[in-house]
Amino acid sequence: MKRPIIEPFRIKVVEPIKMTTRRQRERILDEARYNLFGVRAEDVIIDLLTDSGTGAMSAEQWAAVMRGDESYAGARSYFRFEEAATAITGMPVVFPTHQGRAAERILTQVFDLHGKTVVSNGLFDTTRANVEAAGACGVDLPVAAPDRDGFGGNMDLERFERTIADLGAAIALVVMTVTNNTVGGQAVSMRNLLAVSDRCRSANIPLFLDACRFAENAYFIRRHEPSESRRTLEAIAREMFDLCDGFTMSAKKDAIVNMGGMLGVRDPALAEKIRVELIRTEGFTTYGGLAGRDLEAIAQGLREVLDESYLEYRFAASAYVASALERAGWPVILPAAAHAVYVDAGAALPHLAPDDLPGQSLACAFYLAGGVRTCEIGNLMFGAAGAGRQQLVRFAIPRRVYTQSHMDYVAAVGTELAAVRDRLPAMRIVEQPPSLRHFSAALAPASPFPELP
Ligand code: F0G
Repeated sequence: MKRPIIEPFRIKVVEPIKMTTRRQRERILDEARYNLFGVRAEDVIIDLLTDSGTGAMSAEQWAAVMRGDESYAGARSYFRFEEAATAITGMPVVFPTHQGRAAERILTQVFDLHGKTVVSNGLFDTTRANVEAAGACGVDLPVAAPDRDGFGGNMDLERFERTIADLGAAIALVVMTVTNNTVGGQAVSMRNLLAVSDRCRSANIPLFLDACRFAENAYFIRRHEPSESRRTLEAIAREMFDLCDGFTMSAKKDAIVNMGGMLGVRDPALAEKIRVELIRTEGFTTYGGLAGRDLEAIAQGLREVLDESYLEYRFAASAYVASALERAGWPVILPAAAHAVYVDAGAALPHLAPDDLPGQSLACAFYLAGGVRTCEIGNLMFGAAGAGRQQLVRFAIPRRVYTQSHMDYVAAVGTELAAVRDRLPAMRIVEQPPSLRHFSAALAPASPFPELP
């Protein structure tokens, strides 16, 4: 028997999972108005809504929490955070923020974005919302299909070139999201990042990295980009940052903490503007909206995340779920990302048009069938901006939280559900807010969800 890749940790603290029945979940989902963000966590059996802030901290992180220095200015914890962040990124100035979107908001305010365009391989939804709130337009130019090495998160260089020719100085900023969450969590190759960086430099456009899954991207590069296979993960990660003028990062992903973010830049003049904005809205520059103990946990998490066996397990876990769902007949986006498995609900439920919200229908069906909470990434999330996008359901995998038998449970629910998938109903939006509607819209199925055989 081939030796499996095992979870490279032991479990020291456990959280009980409450079991629910289908009948209970029908009532719960109805009360949440078919929006999974409205379901209480205690009513979820396996929570794959997001990998953000949901990871399990290590014993060393918890130990570091006790070292938290809660001084307002110049706390020891800040310097430990700064040392860890600059060691990985090489960025001369790194500011803490309370999470990724706070860094995005500050970035989009210190640049003069009004009437301008921000070009990206794929803006995350909060990044797009911040870009639009600053009066700019966000343009995503992801490649249509993975390249021969399996990099599906790249920027489409031809369309990028044409966009530069068309818009020129109206492009205020380029953001490369690693990994590219909104197109199936696909990785960006070093070759692509280099090409984008070269072009940005020659056109004098600042390039920022949305770096929240930098370690997973670096591991994918090492494994799949032939020219990078002999380099250390640290060297690859460092080069990704070296190619950019700055970065935003949600520490809730690859820094494996429950709360936190950061914003790093090279340009001292830009850093000065950020400093002012940070103090006005997040907090003094040495804590940026976080407690000293949070900064300690981030510093330690950054030291842990580039560990070989951790990243090997991380990719193995998602590959395991992806192949189990594929065996059950679900069309899965391949290669599987590390942080999540994405099912193409549009292809899986061809009887539903994109406006019937097949992704939301499938996400609700997984909840009803097994208490598995996932997230729609399709027309519900993107609205009009999503025209032509795939209708995806994301099974995000929290870091160091679930075991292989939890994943077997998800696969078993998927297998049962596959038998009734041609009867999953269209979903209608009953009420919606003006922006970021997927978080709070109320929905209803056009007909009842089928019972499992
Ligand atoms: N950028 C990317 C690529 C993200 O995936 C996220 C968050 C953010 C920025 C914002 O960071 O949540 O700390 O403010 N993604 C989470 C997710 C919410 O579920 O994918 P944040």
